[in-house]
Parts: sequence; structure tokens; C-alpha cells
Amino acid sequence: MDTSELSRQFADRYGDTGNSVRAFYAPGRVNLIGDHTDYNGGLVFPCAINFGTTLLIRPTLKKAIQLASTNFDLVAVLSKDQANQKYGDHWINYPLGVVQQFEKAGLDIGGFECLFSGNVPNGAGLSSSASVSVVTAYALNELFGCGLDDITLVRMAQSAENDFVGVQCGIMDQYAVTMGQSDHAMMLDCDTLACEQVPLLLDGHAIVLINSNQRRELSESKYNERVDETRLALEKLSQIVSATTLAQISPAQLADNRLVLAESPNAYKRARHVVSEHDRVKRAVEALRNNDLQSFGTLMYESHTSLREDYNVSSEPLDALVDIARDTEGVLGARLTGAGFGGCTVNLVRKNAVQSLLSNVERHYKQRTGLTANSYEITPSDGVREVSS
Ligand code: GLA
Repeated sequence: MDTSELSRQFADRYGDTGNSVRAFYAPGRVNLIGDHTDYNGGLVFPCAINFGTTLLIRPTLKKAIQLASTNFDLVAVLSKDQANQKYGDHWINYPLGVVQQFEKAGLDIGGFECLFSGNVPNGAGLSSSASVSVVTAYALNELFGCGLDDITLVRMAQSAENDFVGVQCGIMDQYAVTMGQSDHAMMLDCDTLACEQVPLLLDGHAIVLINSNQRRELSESKYNERVDETRLALEKLSQIVSATTLAQISPAQLADNRLVLAESPNAYKRARHVVSEHDRVKRAVEALRNNDLQSFGTLMYESHTSLREDYNVSSEPLDALVDIARDTEGVLGARLTGAGFGGCTVNLVRKNAVQSLLSNVERHYKQRTGLTANSYEITPSDGVREVSS
């Protein structure tokens, strides 16, 4: 929805108080390679995408918070005290979690009324939630003059998901939607937060996302289970290898010390994914720098196999989409992206082969899974910002 239409809806809902309404925007993100490495101190390689969340917001004299969205029916009017409690399983928890972070930090934010509108598909692994949390954090910081820097806002948005929503996510999503740059993907070291913006020179190729439209069930609890399994792996391995994160352990060291995990076969497999995926990100970025998209694509396929076999976060629909991609001439690589358990695949495709990929998906996906997929060709985009209202 364009901002002028959104402004009209804002005025219809909240009236005209004379106070000016400000508009902010945060994108979603796609991770090109490096999944489930972020909370293990590893490398990731995401870019912000040209889908996102717009937020119109205005301060009010009352201490209340009013939240509405053009995407959902639920509207909430809460006093500051009520804003400290989780609101069922609703989208409202993302902005509320952020408000709570500001309060925890002792920052005095006043009341406000706001309207969200987003076009990042929900539950598709494209960080619709980080887009909402980050745009909220950024807007509150600007609106109430808190003077926080971007990294602090990234961490607050992440903590909002960890502490309030209850997902033990890493920092990748909030970082990517904040720091995105058009035509670049970022290689982020999630341990040190050292980040390199790498030009995405795609040279006649496209990044195509295919949404499996598979309903994600229990994805939050399964995600947290993976976090625990990797913690267990690190706890045991760090008794004999000097490491504070799994990503500091090399694939060879893991193989040499596998006996320490003999009684925890799952933890061993999870660790094997993390150390190999961390290494794949390095190699993929190197390939990109050498203009070797073929190798980049091969690493994407390897990443998918590792996520499927060792991390067990793929699903039949996602595997079907990757198989179809593999069988299509002109697709260089494909993998699930984000947490998994449903959501999207990301595909690196020769521009003149995009149509045949989409036709093959149309022809075979429904037959194999009973589901209908849809697709988006994305462009790497800029991160969170104020826009004109
Ligand atoms: C989700 C989390 C991220 C990251 C990915 C998997 O998107 O929010 O922190 O762990 O899954 O790479």
C-alpha cells in the first residue's frame, strides 16, 4: 500500500490532532546462505529485500499505546502497564516486546498511536516479524529522541523476540533489515558483528524466492530445540577443544573429537551442520568475489542437503521445490532459507531460465505435495529508514 493511502487510513482511524504523523519503513530479508549459524557465532550472508513494513506513527498526550495494522483485524489500545504482558499469540507482541525493551532500558517513551502495513509474506522465512520489530524500534527512537545507535536498536529488537515473544533467535534478521544496502548482501560475523557489504554482481542472473505455502507447525518450539541441541554440543566439545562458539570449531576438529558426542547423536549432527555451513558461507562469498556463480550455486545445494540431513529443518514441500530447481536447466542453486520447517526456497537462476523454473514448479509441485507455490523475484534493498508520509 502506498504511503498516501496509508496516511488516509491513519487519519480515518485516529483523526487529525494537529500533531504530525511520521512514516518509517523496514524491509524483510532473505538469507542467501548460512542458516542456523547466527546463534552459534557463525557467518551469515543475507540481504534486505524489496518487501517490507511501513509504520505510520504519532505521539499522543495520553500514556496509552494504540496499535493497528492493515494486515490484521486486531486493534489494541493498551495502557503502559498492560504493554508489559504478552498479548496471546498475536502480531502485536512484536511491537509490544520492543516497547518493553525501551522501558527496561529506562527510556521514557510517551504514548503513541500507530498503523502498520506490510507486504512481507508471513511465516515464509522472510523475516516479517523482524521487519515489524525493527521498524518499531527505529520509529520509537526517532519519535522520542532516545539517541540510540543502530546496533543498540538491532539488539533491542532481537531481545524483544527472545524475551517477550519467546523465540531464542539469533541476530541475523534484525541486523539484515536494519543494515541492508541496495545491490549488496552482507557477510556478517554473528560473534563479533564484523560485517562486510559485498556487491551482488549477478551478471544476468536473478534471485527468485518460491514460497512452499506450507503451514509451519510447532516451528517456534522446534527452533528453540535446535538452539538447545547446539548449546549441548558446544558444552561438551568445549571441554576438549578451546572454543566459545561452535563456529570456532573447524570441521576437522569436530570429526576428530566426535566421541565426546557419542551419546548425543543429534547434537553431533547439529554441530556438523553449523561448522560446515559456517565454512560454506566463507567459500560462497569468495566464489561471488571471483564471479563464480556456478560454485556459489553448488554451495547453496550443499547447504540445503546439510539443513535437511543434519539439521532436520527441511520438509517434503521444501525438498520438492529444491528437486524441481535442480532439474531445471539454468538454475545454479537452491536451498531453503531462514529457519525452515516450511517457508521459502531461495534460487539463483539465469534470467532467461526464470520462466522455465516457474513453469516446472507449476507443473510438478502441486502434483507432488498437494500445495500451490508462489514466487517473488527480489532485489537487494536498503535497510530501515524514515520515509515521507
Ligand atoms: C530465523 C531466526 C534467525 C536465524 C534463522 C536461521 O530466521 O530469526 O536468527 O537463526 O532463523 O538461520
